[in-house]
Amino acid sequence: MAQTVRLAVLPGDGIGPEVVAEGLKVLDVVAADLGLAVERTEYDLGARRWHATGETLPDSALEEIRGHDAILLGAVGDPGVPSGVLERGLLLRLRFELDQYVNLRPSRLLPGVASPLAEPGDIDLVVVREGTEGPYTGNGGALRVGTPHEVATEVSVNTAFGVERVVRDAFARAQARPRRKLTLLHKHNVLAYAGHLWRRTVEAVGAEHPDVAVDYAHVDAAMIYLVTDPARFDVVVTDNLFGDIVTDLAAAVTGGIGLAASGNVDPTRRSPSMFEPVHGSAPDIAGTGRADPTATVLSVAMLLEHLGHPDAAERVVRAVGDDLAARAGAGPRTTSETGDAIAAALA
Ligand code: NAI
Ligand code: MG
Repeated sequence: MAQTVRLAVLPGDGIGPEVVAEGLKVLDVVAADLGLAVERTEYDLGARRWHATGETLPDSALEEIRGHDAILLGAVGDPGVPSGVLERGLLLRLRFELDQYVNLRPSRLLPGVASPLAEPGDIDLVVVREGTEGPYTGNGGALRVGTPHEVATEVSVNTAFGVERVVRDAFARAQARPRRKLTLLHKHNVLAYAGHLWRRTVEAVGAEHPDVAVDYAHVDAAMIYLVTDPARFDVVVTDNLFGDIVTDLAAAVTGGIGLAASGNVDPTRRSPSMFEPVHGSAPDIAGTGRADPTATVLSVAMLLEHLGHPDAAERVVRAVGDDLAARAGAGPRTTSETGDAIAAALA
């Protein structure tokens, strides 16, 4: 009997639905070959929904989404929604409620892709960013807002439990990769309370993985290395805020926002994991057919890997690689032409 995957699809706003359509196109081809039945439920969440009803993530929708095997998200947001409403009310709420504590962001410089670096070297790293703690929990507040005496706090939350589980995940990933190297990025010289919790946790878990080489860099110095010697990194583990920032630079040196894929993963599989391109809804090009769907297609590859189909995931990455090589030097293509080309390259 065919295996069934229940997929919640959140196309979102702007180019979100455009790129998600291409991701699903590629998923359909691969699923058919695997004998995988993909049962999709689409959810209208994001800026359009908020403008229409004032809702970000109704509890009923969250509970329905919880019943799926995985989530594919396009992007949400438009300039008419106040900053923070959808980030806190929808994106972060999904990550927190579904306990997606591993935010996985691979950066690989695929053949045929131009890096802005003159000598990029062989970049193939994955950032394991903590997804449920740090300064993103909303632990803070404000007093006397709008007065000269305004007070604002935004407290970084780091728990032994939360740090250990993400560090364990990062070590497991490092162990499974050929280079077996893990780098902790933090700033423990200044952020000493949280930093030393991270450092001690990496040391303790590292002792259980004697064949994984452990390295540490202050996060600011890591910004230098990502430009001068990015190939030094294999698995990188870091907190929620540092990870957010570091992965934008990692994406930039490996071909940019059109290629950067991500997964918000609950490794315990109690809740569905969510896969999404790193980019946003790009209102400046929405509707023009210029959005590159490749990041979404690569997010579909991560989804396949998470669902236990690593060969199919690798097949999608290879097809993307072949297509990127074919694209070099060719004229501009539309979003759906790129989706078609990747689907064709799967054959
Ligand atoms: P953005 O990623 O949407 O766009 C930044 C620049 O990259 C724009 O010039 C855009 O045209 C270009 N770009 C983005 N994706 C592209 C693609 N696939 N192909 C070709 N070009 C692409 O970031 P921006 O402009 O800061 O945010 C726009 C909206 O998206 C905002 O409402 C923001 O809140 C939201 N956003 C949502 C995210 C999510 O849903 N996870 C993540 C980041 C931003
Ligand atoms: Mg970001």
